[in-house]
Amino acid sequence: MKLTAAITGVGAYVPDYRLTNKELETLVDTTSEWIVSRTGIEERRILKGDNQGTSVMGIKAVQQLLEKTGTRAEDIELLICATVTPDMLFPATANIISGGVGASRAFSYDMNAACSGFLYALATGAQFVQAGTYKKVVVVGADKMSAIVDYTDRSNCILFGDGAAAVLLEPSTDGYGVIDQVLRADGTGEQFLHQKAGGSRRPPTAETVAGREHYIYQEGASVFKFAVTKMADVAAEVMERNHLSREDVAWLVPHQANKRIIDATAHRMGVGPDKVMLNIQRYGNTTNATIPLCLADYESQLRRGDNLVFAAFGGGFTWGALYVKWAYTS
Ligand code: COA
Repeated sequence: MKLTAAITGVGAYVPDYRLTNKELETLVDTTSEWIVSRTGIEERRILKGDNQGTSVMGIKAVQQLLEKTGTRAEDIELLICATVTPDMLFPATANIISGGVGASRAFSYDMNAACSGFLYALATGAQFVQAGTYKKVVVVGADKMSAIVDYTDRSNCILFGDGAAAVLLEPSTDGYGVIDQVLRADGTGEQFLHQKAGGSRRPPTAETVAGREHYIYQEGASVFKFAVTKMADVAAEVMERNHLSREDVAWLVPHQANKRIIDATAHRMGVGPDKVMLNIQRYGNTTNATIPLCLADYESQLRRGDNLVFAAFGGGFTWGALYVKWAYTS
């Protein structure tokens, strides 16, 4: 019997603190009107406090997921965390989350594909379920972007926020869950979006700190140009490959980087704004958390059998689209 990996629950956590456009106006030379018209973002959540890493949010998201699905932590067999802001370079944030929730029997690891990480991790986790190897796989998307945002750089600090969300994958014999995926990468995009220092190429020194090299470096206009075409390309490709017409698609679940990129993707797919999940106005770009945070926000509107197209673009460059048949009506 053919197994598919169904998403059987969603858990989410965003920190309380709201960094509004108004507050950003006090930090850099910008206006709320500029930010809203160029990106669609009105506010983002920020994780405050000492010694608070990405895992703090990931643990809360997974705890909510376990509670909502009635799953025991010790029954999780694999936990993958997609993140670009791990608590530490090692151990993996996935290990810390597993420890924090009591997933004592799970093996766990991080995946880094920048803003496409959640899709890469979801596709990877799904393979273990489809192969019949595991029955309970948790995929977390979590980022504390405020840790690597330069709040003196007006073109970048307006974009990002903190958050985490997680899904549970379980086997389905009725064809629900991840049906198809188109995943791509092009490493020549490195020059446009990266964090210069802190890794093995440029370990931290007083000079790298003084040079502000531990923050996100992004050539926004170039990244925008790639994102707007590549994300739409793969979303259209996954529709074509699966003979999905615009009417067949119940929801586009796009990475929330910029509302204009989302609009272009929806336009290319031929789907109207009523079918597009959107929460960028409240959270900004939470990198790996955007797609599962959308699922959490729209969960009550989803119906068993809905056809969903997930699409993302990120640093690397990486990009991809997944076709998911939603497994439950909540
Ligand atoms: N407030 C006011 N003006 C700003 C500004 C801000 N926060 N940020 C940049 N500007 C200015 C620039 O300095 C530039 O001024 P200049 O023409 O005098 O030099 C002007 O606005 C246009 O800058 P540009 O970078 O071309 O704007 P843009 O329309 O491309 O919008 C981004 C900038 C960052 C919003 C946009 O490029 C973007 O969203 N890129 C993709 C980012 C992304 O999604 N990254 C993650 C991928 S997963």
